[in-house]
Amino acid sequence: MKRNNHDGPNLRVLAGVLAVAAVALCWSPLSRAFGVTGAAASANPVAGQPDAARHGEELFGRICQQCHNTRGHGGKCPQLVRGAWAPGGANSDQLMFNTITHGRPGTQMGAFGEVLTKEQIWQIITFLREEAVRVKAADAKKPKDDEADLWY
Ligand code: HEC
Repeated sequence: MKRNNHDGPNLRVLAGVLAVAAVALCWSPLSRAFGVTGAAASANPVAGQPDAARHGEELFGRICQQCHNTRGHGGKCPQLVRGAWAPGGANSDQLMFNTITHGRPGTQMGAFGEVLTKEQIWQIITFLREEAVRVKAADAKKPKDDEADLWY
């Protein structure tokens, strides 16, 4: 007798497609270039707000800079604006939010969810993401001038 297993596999396929779509949207360089960063998975509620970036810059300078160096450019601890953290890079806003909130147990990276509000953490992320755009533009200027415009 033929087993009717129509629903199960189809739902699984649908869930898989949705997951891939969410990841693709979140990671896509285009979504970052057009400022809809992580609309599906992360939704930084203060993204693009000049006040948020300003507060984030101030908080970063006070709390994070001692390890991550000026404007997150890295030093004794990881940089937060290039590579996988660059615009369109593999690391999502949500990953950054989770890392800042929960820290990295067993390393010097503390759990700042205990001392910062969610909004303050998103402000820091807003600052770092905008700094990453500036860094990308500055880096692009070095070999070839007109590419910098693509990121503004
Ligand atoms: C006492 C030093 C210290 C301070 C202060 C600190 N961090 Fe870190 N941070 C680290 C270290 C060390 C790591 C790398 C942990 C590891 O080995 O995975 C890290 C990792 C990270 C990462 C993940 C980097 C990656 O590429 O995996 C993020 C994001 C981050 N920190 C953000 C922040 C922010 C934002 C602040 C301020 C609110 C902050 N950190 C404050 C030491 C620090």
